[in-house]
Amino acid sequence: MARGPGDVPSSALASRNGVASGMRPRVRLRRQPSAKVAMVGAGQLARMTHQAAVDLGIDLVVLAESSDDSAVVAGVPFRLGSATSLADIRATAAGADVVTFEHPFVPSRHLREMEDLGYRLRPGPAALSLARDKLKARKVLSASGFPVPAFAPVSSPSDVLRFAQEHGWPIVVKNPRSAHDGRGVHVIDSEDRLAHLFVQPPWTGRVWLAEQFVEIAAELAILIARTAQGYVALYPAVQTIQRAGIRSHLLMPALLPGSIIKQAGQMAKSIADGTDATGILAVEMFLDTRGELLVNELTLGPHDAGHATIEACETSEFHQHLRAVLDWPLGATTLRSAAATANLIGGPDATGIAARLPLALGIPGVYVHLYSGAALHGRKLGHVTALRGSTEEALETAQAMAALLTKP
Ligand SMILES: Nc1ncnc2c1ncn2[C@@H]1O[C@H](COP(=O)(O)OP(=O)(O)O)[C@@H](O)[C@H]1O
Ligand SMILES: [Mg+2]
Repeated sequence: MARGPGDVPSSALASRNGVASGMRPRVRLRRQPSAKVAMVGAGQLARMTHQAAVDLGIDLVVLAESSDDSAVVAGVPFRLGSATSLADIRATAAGADVVTFEHPFVPSRHLREMEDLGYRLRPGPAALSLARDKLKARKVLSASGFPVPAFAPVSSPSDVLRFAQEHGWPIVVKNPRSAHDGRGVHVIDSEDRLAHLFVQPPWTGRVWLAEQFVEIAAELAILIARTAQGYVALYPAVQTIQRAGIRSHLLMPALLPGSIIKQAGQMAKSIADGTDATGILAVEMFLDTRGELLVNELTLGPHDAGHATIEACETSEFHQHLRAVLDWPLGATTLRSAAATANLIGGPDATGIAARLPLALGIPGVYVHLYSGAALHGRKLGHVTALRGSTEEALETAQAMAALLTKP
Protein backbone atom coordinates (compact mmCIF):
# COMPACT_ATOMS: atom_id res chain seq x y z
CA MET A 1 0.00 0.00 0.00
CA ALA A 2 1.30 3.44 -0.90
CA ARG A 3 2.14 5.55 2.09
CA GLY A 4 1.41 9.27 2.24
CA PRO A 5 2.78 11.73 4.75
CA GLY A 6 -0.20 11.05 6.98
CA ASP A 7 0.89 7.41 7.35
CA VAL A 8 4.31 8.22 8.83
CA PRO A 9 4.42 7.40 12.51
CA SER A 10 4.62 10.57 14.56
CA SER A 11 7.73 9.26 16.35
CA ALA A 12 9.56 9.05 13.00
CA LEU A 13 8.53 12.61 12.16
CA ALA A 14 9.58 13.80 15.55
CA SER A 15 13.06 12.38 15.21
CA ARG A 16 13.32 13.55 11.59
CA ASN A 17 12.42 17.05 12.66
CA GLY A 18 14.94 16.84 15.47
CA VAL A 19 12.18 17.25 18.02
CA ALA A 20 12.55 15.41 21.30
CA SER A 21 10.26 12.42 21.54
CA GLY A 22 7.00 13.21 23.32
CA MET A 23 6.74 16.76 21.93
CA ARG A 24 4.24 17.52 19.16
CA PRO A 25 6.00 17.33 15.79
CA ARG A 26 5.77 20.33 13.45
CA VAL A 27 4.76 19.04 10.06
CA ARG A 28 4.45 21.51 7.20
CA LEU A 29 2.54 20.13 4.26
CA ARG A 30 2.86 22.44 1.30
CA ARG A 31 -0.41 23.23 -0.40
CA GLN A 32 0.00 23.12 -4.14
CA PRO A 33 -2.48 25.14 -6.22
CA SER A 34 -2.85 24.06 -9.84
CA ALA A 35 -1.86 27.58 -10.88
CA LYS A 36 -1.74 31.14 -9.54
CA VAL A 37 -3.59 33.85 -11.41
CA ALA A 38 -3.68 37.57 -10.67
CA MET A 39 -6.61 39.60 -11.97
CA VAL A 40 -6.75 43.38 -12.23
CA GLY A 41 -10.26 44.34 -11.09
CA ALA A 42 -12.52 42.99 -8.40
CA GLY A 43 -16.08 43.45 -9.64
CA GLN A 44 -18.68 40.77 -10.32
CA LEU A 45 -16.72 39.34 -13.24
CA ALA A 46 -13.75 38.72 -10.93
CA ARG A 47 -16.14 37.28 -8.36
CA MET A 48 -17.53 34.75 -10.85
CA THR A 49 -14.03 34.01 -12.19
CA HIS A 50 -13.13 33.06 -8.63
CA GLN A 51 -15.94 30.51 -8.50
CA ALA A 52 -14.35 28.82 -11.52
CA ALA A 53 -10.86 29.17 -10.02
CA VAL A 54 -12.05 27.30 -6.92
CA ASP A 55 -13.30 24.44 -9.12
CA LEU A 56 -9.95 24.18 -10.87
CA GLY A 57 -7.77 24.47 -7.76
CA ILE A 58 -6.37 27.81 -8.94
CA ASP A 59 -5.25 30.49 -6.49
CA LEU A 60 -6.78 33.75 -7.70
CA VAL A 61 -5.83 37.13 -6.26
CA VAL A 62 -7.51 40.32 -7.39
CA LEU A 63 -6.46 43.96 -7.42
CA ALA A 64 -9.39 45.81 -5.82
CA GLU A 65 -10.03 49.54 -5.74
CA SER A 66 -12.25 49.21 -2.68
CA SER A 67 -13.05 46.71 0.03
CA ASP A 68 -16.70 46.99 -1.10
CA ASP A 69 -15.86 45.50 -4.52
CA SER A 70 -18.03 42.51 -5.36
CA ALA A 71 -15.16 39.98 -5.41
CA VAL A 72 -13.75 41.25 -2.12
CA VAL A 73 -17.13 41.01 -0.42
CA ALA A 74 -17.26 37.38 -1.59
CA GLY A 75 -13.97 36.63 0.16
CA VAL A 76 -11.67 36.50 -2.85
CA PRO A 77 -8.03 37.12 -1.81
CA PHE A 78 -7.27 40.70 -2.75
CA ARG A 79 -4.85 43.56 -2.61
CA LEU A 80 -6.19 47.09 -2.34
CA GLY A 81 -4.79 49.49 -4.88
CA SER A 82 -5.26 51.17 -8.20
CA ALA A 83 -5.30 49.70 -11.70
CA THR A 84 -3.33 52.76 -12.81
CA SER A 85 -0.48 52.15 -10.34
CA LEU A 86 2.35 49.97 -11.60
CA ALA A 87 3.47 49.26 -8.04
CA ASP A 88 -0.01 48.01 -7.08
CA ILE A 89 -0.29 45.81 -10.17
CA ARG A 90 3.16 44.35 -9.57
CA ALA A 91 2.41 43.67 -5.93
CA THR A 92 -0.78 41.82 -6.92
CA ALA A 93 1.01 39.90 -9.67
CA ALA A 94 3.90 38.71 -7.47
CA GLY A 95 4.29 34.95 -7.83
CA ALA A 96 1.42 34.61 -10.32
CA ASP A 97 1.76 32.37 -13.37
CA VAL A 98 -0.27 34.84 -15.40
CA VAL A 99 -1.86 38.25 -14.99
CA THR A 100 -5.30 38.79 -16.46
CA PHE A 101 -7.80 41.63 -16.50
CA GLU A 102 -11.40 42.22 -15.58
CA HIS A 103 -11.28 45.58 -17.37
CA PRO A 104 -8.77 47.16 -19.75
CA PHE A 105 -8.11 50.42 -17.89
CA VAL A 106 -4.44 49.86 -17.13
CA PRO A 107 -2.09 52.34 -18.83
CA SER A 108 -0.26 50.81 -21.81
CA ARG A 109 3.14 51.88 -20.50
CA HIS A 110 2.56 49.84 -17.33
CA LEU A 111 1.59 46.81 -19.37
CA ARG A 112 4.68 47.08 -21.54
CA GLU A 113 6.89 47.47 -18.48
CA MET A 114 5.28 44.43 -16.86
CA GLU A 115 6.06 42.41 -19.96
CA ASP A 116 9.65 43.67 -19.97
CA LEU A 117 9.92 42.54 -16.36
CA GLY A 118 8.88 39.04 -17.39
CA TYR A 119 5.23 38.91 -16.25
CA ARG A 120 2.93 36.93 -18.52
CA LEU A 121 0.02 39.20 -19.40
CA ARG A 122 -3.02 37.47 -20.85
CA PRO A 123 -4.31 39.24 -22.89
CA GLY A 124 -1.27 41.30 -23.84
CA PRO A 125 -0.95 45.10 -24.19
CA ALA A 126 -1.82 45.32 -27.91
CA ALA A 127 -5.11 43.43 -27.62
CA LEU A 128 -6.05 45.24 -24.40
CA SER A 129 -5.52 48.63 -26.01
CA LEU A 130 -8.34 47.85 -28.47
CA ALA A 131 -10.76 47.22 -25.63
CA ARG A 132 -9.62 50.35 -23.82
CA ASP A 133 -9.86 52.72 -26.76
CA LYS A 134 -12.94 52.53 -29.00
CA LEU A 135 -11.43 54.95 -31.52
CA LYS A 136 -8.30 52.87 -31.89
CA ALA A 137 -10.43 49.72 -32.25
CA ARG A 138 -12.47 51.38 -35.02
CA LYS A 139 -9.28 52.40 -36.85
CA VAL A 140 -7.59 49.00 -36.54
CA LEU A 141 -10.71 47.05 -37.50
CA SER A 142 -11.59 49.21 -40.50
CA ALA A 143 -7.95 49.17 -41.70
CA SER A 144 -8.14 45.35 -41.57
CA GLY A 145 -11.30 45.36 -43.67
CA PHE A 146 -13.90 44.60 -40.99
CA PRO A 147 -17.21 46.42 -41.40
CA VAL A 148 -17.70 49.12 -38.73
CA PRO A 149 -20.10 52.09 -38.50
CA ALA A 150 -18.80 55.20 -40.32
CA PHE A 151 -16.73 57.11 -37.78
CA ALA A 152 -14.35 60.03 -37.28
CA PRO A 153 -12.29 61.44 -34.44
CA VAL A 154 -13.78 64.79 -33.32
CA SER A 155 -12.59 67.42 -30.89
CA SER A 156 -14.89 70.39 -31.47
CA PRO A 157 -18.53 71.15 -32.31
CA SER A 158 -17.50 72.08 -35.86
CA ASP A 159 -15.88 68.64 -36.31
CA VAL A 160 -19.11 67.00 -35.19
CA LEU A 161 -21.19 69.25 -37.41
CA ARG A 162 -19.09 68.36 -40.43
CA PHE A 163 -19.51 64.67 -39.64
CA ALA A 164 -23.29 65.09 -39.21
CA GLN A 165 -23.58 66.98 -42.51
CA GLU A 166 -21.83 64.11 -44.23
CA HIS A 167 -23.74 61.26 -42.56
CA GLY A 168 -27.03 62.89 -41.48
CA TRP A 169 -28.60 63.34 -38.03
CA PRO A 170 -28.79 61.75 -35.58
CA ILE A 171 -25.20 60.89 -34.87
CA VAL A 172 -23.55 59.18 -31.93
CA VAL A 173 -20.69 60.77 -30.01
CA LYS A 174 -18.75 58.49 -27.68
CA ASN A 175 -16.11 58.86 -25.08
CA PRO A 176 -13.55 56.50 -26.62
CA ARG A 177 -12.32 55.44 -23.20
CA SER A 178 -15.58 55.20 -21.33
CA ALA A 179 -16.36 52.28 -19.13
CA HIS A 180 -19.33 50.22 -20.24
CA ASP A 181 -23.11 50.38 -19.78
CA GLY A 182 -23.62 53.21 -22.25
CA ARG A 183 -22.27 55.83 -19.86
CA GLY A 184 -20.05 57.43 -22.49
CA VAL A 185 -22.50 57.15 -25.41
CA HIS A 186 -24.51 60.21 -26.55
CA VAL A 187 -27.05 60.22 -29.35
CA ILE A 188 -27.27 63.74 -30.77
CA ASP A 189 -30.17 64.55 -33.04
CA SER A 190 -29.62 68.20 -33.95
CA GLU A 191 -27.17 71.06 -34.08
CA ASP A 192 -28.89 72.66 -31.05
CA ARG A 193 -28.02 69.68 -28.90
CA LEU A 194 -24.43 70.03 -30.00
CA ALA A 195 -23.90 73.57 -28.76
CA HIS A 196 -23.27 72.76 -25.10
CA LEU A 197 -21.62 69.40 -25.62
CA PHE A 198 -18.00 70.46 -25.84
CA VAL A 199 -18.05 73.39 -23.46
CA GLN A 200 -18.10 71.49 -20.21
CA PRO A 201 -15.68 68.93 -18.83
CA PRO A 202 -15.02 66.10 -19.50
CA TRP A 203 -15.57 67.07 -23.15
CA THR A 204 -13.13 69.92 -23.39
CA GLY A 205 -9.72 69.36 -24.93
CA ARG A 206 -10.17 65.69 -25.79
CA VAL A 207 -10.64 63.61 -28.89
CA TRP A 208 -14.00 61.88 -29.13
CA LEU A 209 -15.44 59.31 -31.45
CA ALA A 210 -18.28 60.39 -33.75
CA GLU A 211 -20.28 57.64 -35.43
CA GLN A 212 -23.18 57.32 -37.78
CA PHE A 213 -26.34 56.32 -35.95
CA VAL A 214 -26.94 52.74 -37.03
CA GLU A 215 -30.54 51.61 -37.60
CA ILE A 216 -30.16 48.48 -35.52
CA ALA A 217 -32.29 45.41 -36.25
CA ALA A 218 -30.53 43.30 -33.60
CA GLU A 219 -27.41 43.34 -31.45
CA LEU A 220 -25.30 40.29 -30.91
CA ALA A 221 -22.17 39.28 -29.06
CA ILE A 222 -19.85 36.56 -30.18
CA LEU A 223 -17.71 35.13 -27.41
CA ILE A 224 -14.60 33.29 -28.40
CA ALA A 225 -11.82 31.89 -26.22
CA ARG A 226 -8.27 31.88 -27.53
CA THR A 227 -5.07 30.52 -25.99
CA ALA A 228 -1.61 32.03 -26.50
CA GLN A 229 -0.86 29.08 -28.78
CA GLY A 230 -3.80 30.07 -30.97
CA TYR A 231 -6.36 27.39 -30.07
CA VAL A 232 -9.86 28.83 -30.21
CA ALA A 233 -13.33 27.86 -29.02
CA LEU A 234 -16.36 29.73 -30.27
CA TYR A 235 -19.55 29.99 -28.20
CA PRO A 236 -23.02 29.96 -29.71
CA ALA A 237 -24.00 33.52 -30.65
CA VAL A 238 -25.73 35.61 -27.99
CA GLN A 239 -28.37 38.15 -28.92
CA THR A 240 -28.30 41.13 -26.58
CA ILE A 241 -31.05 43.57 -25.75
CA GLN A 242 -30.02 46.98 -24.40
CA ARG A 243 -32.21 49.41 -22.49
CA ALA A 244 -30.82 52.93 -22.05
CA GLY A 245 -27.41 51.65 -23.14
CA ILE A 246 -27.34 48.90 -20.48
CA ARG A 247 -27.61 45.28 -21.45
CA SER A 248 -30.90 44.12 -20.00
CA HIS A 249 -31.47 40.71 -21.62
CA LEU A 250 -29.46 38.02 -23.37
CA LEU A 251 -30.75 35.27 -25.61
CA MET A 252 -28.75 32.14 -26.30
CA PRO A 253 -28.81 30.97 -28.98
CA ALA A 254 -29.58 34.22 -30.83
CA LEU A 255 -32.87 34.31 -32.75
CA LEU A 256 -31.15 35.24 -36.00
CA PRO A 257 -30.66 33.51 -39.35
CA GLY A 258 -27.95 30.83 -39.47
CA SER A 259 -26.10 32.63 -42.28
CA ILE A 260 -25.72 35.77 -40.11
CA ILE A 261 -24.54 33.73 -37.11
CA LYS A 262 -22.01 31.93 -39.28
CA GLN A 263 -20.68 35.17 -40.72
CA ALA A 264 -20.46 36.73 -37.25
CA GLY A 265 -18.55 33.71 -35.94
CA GLN A 266 -16.06 33.85 -38.81
CA MET A 267 -15.49 37.57 -38.20
CA ALA A 268 -14.94 36.99 -34.49
CA LYS A 269 -12.40 34.27 -35.21
CA SER A 270 -10.45 36.48 -37.64
CA ILE A 271 -10.51 39.32 -35.11
CA ALA A 272 -9.30 37.03 -32.32
CA ASP A 273 -6.41 35.77 -34.45
CA GLY A 274 -5.62 39.18 -35.94
CA THR A 275 -5.46 40.92 -32.56
CA ASP A 276 -3.62 38.08 -30.81
CA ALA A 277 -6.29 38.06 -28.11
CA THR A 278 -5.93 35.57 -25.25
CA GLY A 279 -8.67 34.54 -22.87
CA ILE A 280 -12.24 35.42 -23.70
CA LEU A 281 -12.80 37.94 -26.47
CA ALA A 282 -16.32 39.28 -26.91
CA VAL A 283 -17.09 40.92 -30.23
CA GLU A 284 -20.20 43.08 -29.99
CA MET A 285 -21.91 43.53 -33.33
CA PHE A 286 -24.89 45.31 -34.82
CA LEU A 287 -27.10 43.73 -37.44
CA ASP A 288 -28.49 46.75 -39.26
CA THR A 289 -31.88 46.99 -40.93
CA ARG A 290 -30.28 46.30 -44.34
CA GLY A 291 -29.05 42.93 -43.04
CA GLU A 292 -25.38 44.00 -42.75
CA LEU A 293 -23.20 43.08 -39.78
CA LEU A 294 -21.08 45.85 -38.25
CA VAL A 295 -18.53 45.38 -35.50
CA ASN A 296 -19.27 47.68 -32.57
CA GLU A 297 -16.97 46.90 -29.69
CA LEU A 298 -14.27 44.50 -28.54
CA THR A 299 -14.07 43.38 -24.94
CA LEU A 300 -11.45 41.13 -23.41
CA GLY A 301 -12.01 38.86 -20.44
CA PRO A 302 -15.27 37.40 -19.18
CA HIS A 303 -18.17 39.49 -20.42
CA ASP A 304 -21.69 39.95 -19.12
CA ALA A 305 -23.10 38.87 -22.49
CA GLY A 306 -21.73 35.40 -21.71
CA HIS A 307 -23.37 34.86 -18.35
CA ALA A 308 -25.78 32.27 -19.69
CA THR A 309 -22.77 30.05 -20.46
CA ILE A 310 -22.55 29.26 -16.74
CA GLU A 311 -25.59 27.02 -16.91
CA ALA A 312 -26.30 26.69 -20.63
CA CYS A 313 -22.93 25.59 -21.98
CA GLU A 314 -20.65 22.68 -21.30
CA THR A 315 -17.89 25.09 -20.20
CA SER A 316 -18.70 28.46 -18.65
CA GLU A 317 -16.95 31.56 -19.93
CA PHE A 318 -15.23 31.89 -16.54
CA HIS A 319 -13.72 28.40 -16.61
CA GLN A 320 -12.85 28.94 -20.24
CA HIS A 321 -11.11 32.24 -19.59
CA LEU A 322 -8.89 30.62 -16.95
CA ARG A 323 -8.14 27.66 -19.19
CA ALA A 324 -7.28 29.98 -22.07
CA VAL A 325 -5.00 32.34 -20.16
CA LEU A 326 -3.16 29.37 -18.63
CA ASP A 327 -2.77 27.67 -22.02
CA TRP A 328 -4.75 24.70 -20.78
CA PRO A 329 -7.02 22.73 -23.15
CA LEU A 330 -10.21 24.66 -23.90
CA GLY A 331 -13.52 23.12 -22.94
CA ALA A 332 -16.44 22.31 -25.23
CA THR A 333 -18.80 25.24 -25.81
CA THR A 334 -21.76 23.07 -26.74
CA LEU A 335 -25.15 24.44 -25.76
CA ARG A 336 -26.95 22.21 -23.27
CA SER A 337 -30.20 24.14 -23.40
CA ALA A 338 -31.74 27.28 -24.82
CA ALA A 339 -31.27 30.08 -22.31
CA ALA A 340 -32.08 33.68 -21.56
CA THR A 341 -30.59 35.97 -18.97
CA ALA A 342 -32.14 39.08 -17.45
CA ASN A 343 -29.85 41.51 -15.67
CA LEU A 344 -31.08 42.75 -12.30
CA ILE A 345 -30.45 46.47 -12.50
CA GLY A 346 -30.43 48.87 -9.57
CA GLY A 347 -33.27 51.35 -9.23
CA PRO A 348 -36.00 52.25 -6.78
CA ASP A 349 -37.61 48.81 -7.12
CA ALA A 350 -34.42 46.82 -6.76
CA THR A 351 -33.67 47.37 -3.09
CA GLY A 352 -35.40 44.22 -1.91
CA ILE A 353 -33.85 41.65 -4.26
CA ALA A 354 -32.19 39.70 -1.47
CA ALA A 355 -35.44 39.50 0.49
CA ARG A 356 -37.37 38.30 -2.56
CA LEU A 357 -34.73 35.76 -3.58
CA PRO A 358 -36.56 32.73 -2.08
CA LEU A 359 -39.52 33.41 -4.41
CA ALA A 360 -37.37 32.61 -7.44
CA LEU A 361 -35.49 29.68 -5.96
CA GLY A 362 -38.37 27.26 -6.08
CA ILE A 363 -38.66 27.38 -9.85
CA PRO A 364 -36.84 24.68 -11.83
CA GLY A 365 -34.42 25.82 -14.53
CA VAL A 366 -34.00 29.25 -12.95
CA TYR A 367 -30.57 30.35 -11.69
CA VAL A 368 -30.07 33.55 -9.72
CA HIS A 369 -26.67 35.21 -9.27
CA LEU A 370 -26.36 38.17 -6.92
CA TYR A 371 -23.27 40.37 -6.86
CA SER A 372 -23.63 41.87 -3.34
CA GLY A 373 -23.43 45.44 -4.62
CA ALA A 374 -25.26 48.47 -3.19
CA ALA A 375 -28.56 49.00 -5.05
CA LEU A 376 -27.34 52.09 -6.90
CA HIS A 377 -29.40 53.33 -9.80
CA GLY A 378 -28.30 51.74 -13.09
CA ARG A 379 -25.86 49.32 -11.49
CA LYS A 380 -26.04 45.61 -12.30
CA LEU A 381 -26.89 43.91 -9.03
CA GLY A 382 -27.13 40.40 -10.35
CA HIS A 383 -28.61 38.33 -13.12
CA VAL A 384 -31.06 35.54 -13.53
CA THR A 385 -30.73 32.86 -16.20
CA ALA A 386 -33.58 30.62 -17.26
CA LEU A 387 -33.09 27.37 -19.18
CA ARG A 388 -36.05 26.26 -21.25
CA GLY A 389 -36.88 24.28 -24.39
CA SER A 390 -36.67 27.37 -26.61
CA THR A 391 -35.03 30.80 -26.44
CA GLU A 392 -38.49 32.44 -26.47
CA GLU A 393 -39.72 30.45 -23.47
CA ALA A 394 -36.45 31.09 -21.66
CA LEU A 395 -36.82 34.84 -22.26
CA GLU A 396 -40.37 34.80 -20.93
CA THR A 397 -39.25 33.04 -17.74
CA ALA A 398 -36.14 35.22 -17.25
CA GLN A 399 -38.26 38.37 -17.63
CA ALA A 400 -40.85 37.07 -15.19
CA MET A 401 -38.15 36.20 -12.67
CA ALA A 402 -36.47 39.61 -13.00
CA ALA A 403 -39.86 41.26 -12.45
CA LEU A 404 -40.49 39.05 -9.40
CA LEU A 405 -37.12 39.94 -7.92
CA THR A 406 -37.10 43.66 -8.61
CA LYS A 407 -40.76 44.71 -8.33
CA PRO A 408 -42.34 44.90 -4.91
N1 LIG B 1 -23.40 53.96 -33.75
C1 LIG B 1 -24.45 53.55 -33.03
N2 LIG B 1 -25.70 53.58 -33.58
C2 LIG B 1 -26.79 53.20 -32.86
N3 LIG B 1 -26.72 52.75 -31.58
C3 LIG B 1 -25.51 52.68 -31.00
C4 LIG B 1 -24.32 53.07 -31.69
N4 LIG B 1 -23.27 52.90 -30.86
C5 LIG B 1 -23.76 52.43 -29.71
N5 LIG B 1 -25.12 52.29 -29.76
C6 LIG B 1 -26.00 51.76 -28.70
O1 LIG B 1 -25.41 52.05 -27.43
C7 LIG B 1 -25.02 50.84 -26.76
C8 LIG B 1 -23.73 51.05 -26.00
O2 LIG B 1 -22.70 51.44 -26.91
P1 LIG B 1 -21.24 50.81 -26.88
O3 LIG B 1 -20.42 51.48 -27.92
O4 LIG B 1 -21.33 49.33 -26.94
O5 LIG B 1 -20.70 51.32 -25.49
P2 LIG B 1 -20.58 50.61 -24.07
O6 LIG B 1 -19.10 50.59 -23.86
O7 LIG B 1 -21.27 51.51 -23.15
O8 LIG B 1 -21.16 49.24 -24.18
C9 LIG B 1 -24.91 49.81 -27.87
O9 LIG B 1 -25.07 48.49 -27.36
C10 LIG B 1 -26.06 50.25 -28.78
O10 LIG B 1 -27.32 49.82 -28.26
MG1 LIG C 1 -21.05 47.78 -25.62
